[in-house]
Amino acid sequence: ASYDMGGHDTYMHKEIHEQADAVDRVLRGRIDDRFSTVHLGGLNLDAREARRIRRVKILGCGTSYHAGMIGAQMIEELARIPADAEPASEFRYRNAVVDPDTLYVAVSQSGETYDVLAAVQELKRKGARVLGVVNVVGSAIAREADGGIYVHAGPEVCVVSTKCFTNTCVAFALLALHLGRVRDLSVRDGKRIIEGLRRLPEQISEIMEQEEEVKKLAEQFAEARSMLFIGRVRGYPVAREASLKLKEVSYIHAEAYPASELKHGPLALIEPALPTVAIVPDDDLLEKNRAAMEEIKARSGRILAVAHQEQAKADHTIVVPKNEDELDPILMGIPLQLLAYHTALTLGRDIDKPRNLAKSVTVE
Ligand code: AGP
Repeated sequence: ASYDMGGHDTYMHKEIHEQADAVDRVLRGRIDDRFSTVHLGGLNLDAREARRIRRVKILGCGTSYHAGMIGAQMIEELARIPADAEPASEFRYRNAVVDPDTLYVAVSQSGETYDVLAAVQELKRKGARVLGVVNVVGSAIAREADGGIYVHAGPEVCVVSTKCFTNTCVAFALLALHLGRVRDLSVRDGKRIIEGLRRLPEQISEIMEQEEEVKKLAEQFAEARSMLFIGRVRGYPVAREASLKLKEVSYIHAEAYPASELKHGPLALIEPALPTVAIVPDDDLLEKNRAAMEEIKARSGRILAVAHQEQAKADHTIVVPKNEDELDPILMGIPLQLLAYHTALTLGRDIDKPRNLAKSVTVE
């Protein structure tokens, strides 16, 4: 593809900077203020059917799987439907029990990822209802699904997904709000989430203003051979995605772990040469996250926190704007896209086309 780079040196940089506009697009025309809900025209799921759903299973690969992890948490929190995400590539080989009361959701930027498509086909063969959360209009997965949500991120050229991840998370927030409002989510909470969604584009622009600062941090971290990313509950999928971004584009080894699991093993790795990136939202787990940072500091680990306020235990904090608790994961990974980008730039990597990777994996 050859779209205009619009003054950016790489598509990745361009696409990171397009996110405020992209989020605006996924929201456009979908918010219903009268009922504090959203209209998702392509869902093909009426209220009666939506109320009968007993579980939600989200399937995707790579970054789309991580967006699905965030989506599952939003659905569980806002709609109180048990939900989880699984790599489509695993799901299709384990002869999973396909349940008629489960809503299956296939997530894919390209809409062509073979493992996801094959999972959708297998599910449909067994009579399941499958929705797609897809970026490319008219793609194979979009066509195969019973309905779904287009994420409207616009063309994403860089192999490393950034804006599509963010938009997919927003699309899941819309789905969670919709499922919540046909069930037990109150008007008041519906309004609260809508207001939060409306704040996102502006808050993304605020994050972009910190690029110079993130760039300086990246220059320091580029020396690391390996990095640890930690978070809990809402912060954990953010850590997973940030670690994938860093690996893909900089080739620095990175591992993501729930902060709650540190003491069950990974603490043994902590030393000055292994920097930790901690996702520290200002929610009811703040104190727990602070305690985890303290454990790392006590073992001379270096910490970069992504948080809603300066963290005394961290060596550096990237402060991101606070949104509603449920929507925080959408914003917290964005400065870490910039971190991955500038780390790769410092190391002279082939940013838009990392070695060994393809934009969409259309084969087994
Ligand atoms: C994203 O940075 C990756 N290159 C990769 O993990 C990607 O998300 C995965 O292959 C799934 O692609 P899809 O969203 O087009 O299905």
